[in-house]
Amino acid sequence: MNKVQIMGTGSYVPPRIVTNDDLSCIVDTSDEWISSRTGIKERRISEGEDTSDMASKAALKALEQSKVKPEEIDLIIVATSTPDNFIPSTACLVQKNILAVNATCFDISAACSGFVYGINIATQFIRTGSVKKVLVIGAETLSKVLNWEDRSTCVLFGDGAAAAVLSESDRESILAICNGSDGSKGQYLVSKAVPVVNPYTDKKDIDVNVNSYVEMNGREIFKFAVKTILQSTEELLEKINCSMDEIKYIVLHQANYRIIEFAAKKLGVSEDKFYVNLDKFGNTSAATIGIALDEMNQKNLLKTGDKILLIGFGGGLTYGGIAIEW
Ligand code: COA
Repeated sequence: MNKVQIMGTGSYVPPRIVTNDDLSCIVDTSDEWISSRTGIKERRISEGEDTSDMASKAALKALEQSKVKPEEIDLIIVATSTPDNFIPSTACLVQKNILAVNATCFDISAACSGFVYGINIATQFIRTGSVKKVLVIGAETLSKVLNWEDRSTCVLFGDGAAAAVLSESDRESILAICNGSDGSKGQYLVSKAVPVVNPYTDKKDIDVNVNSYVEMNGREIFKFAVKTILQSTEELLEKINCSMDEIKYIVLHQANYRIIEFAAKKLGVSEDKFYVNLDKFGNTSAATIGIALDEMNQKNLLKTGDKILLIGFGGGLTYGGIAIEW
């Protein structure tokens, strides 16, 4: 089996900062409510850039950092729940934008677990020798599927993209992987696509004006998140035969500070071990873990040999974790 190394990372968020106070001008909310329930202070909101635009910018930064040319990329995987189109895939749009002419491209839909699922898929492709270099991207324009009149959801999310270049190597970055899904809980986090309406359906029963607004049962997601974070952490530590003391950082999907607080308490781990940047970006779904990883990389927080855990959870419902040696 080939070894897999993370060669570099990149991220991009749109320049427009929307604070909690800004949101209180749109919906009946307050900085106090949002900060105390979620830890979020502000988020970036697209002023027109779509998912492929942000994904391409993050991808170019990751390539530059990795010193890999676009034409060396064999595979582009974009994790997104907010693609530009049904067809073509966002990954194909990225390919066109960054001139990765030799890549095979596809999108995956795993909501907030998307970046972790993407790294998992890329790893399997490289391990088997079928490709050498993969660009994994998590990118979302959640602002286009938010109901800006629903205070219970519009305050939680933001837009952004992150990328990582994975390559066949003589060094191993990916120590262990775990993931899973529970489709029976899918109704707790929903953004609908178009209904089936064609000349052969009974249109009377179908609401053709269905929207794609995010609808969420926050409490159920909270429970699922805490359960799967604990499960994934234990599974990863067991697989790599390490104690928590040997882990430098845990990078959780950045959804809500209270989830991180709760998980830290349950695991008996100091909150300092968890990297947190959700105060600045909110929940960017498939992009959060990649944005955090890139920020840590840029800040030089990661040294060669450091062990870190990446753990995602979200719509589907899905979850997944990766143990990495930097
Ligand atoms: N501002 C002010 N009040 C708000 C509000 C807002 N933005 N959003 C909801 N409220 C109100 C509700 O209307 C409700 O009022 P009521 O008691 O008068 O009916 C009250 O606050 C409590 O609402 P509730 O939804 O029960 O709050 P909560 O304590 O469960 O917190 C979340 C809501 C979303 C912060 C919390 O459930 C959570 O963090 N869940 C996890 C969600 C998540 O991370 N999703 C990402 C998926 S990957």
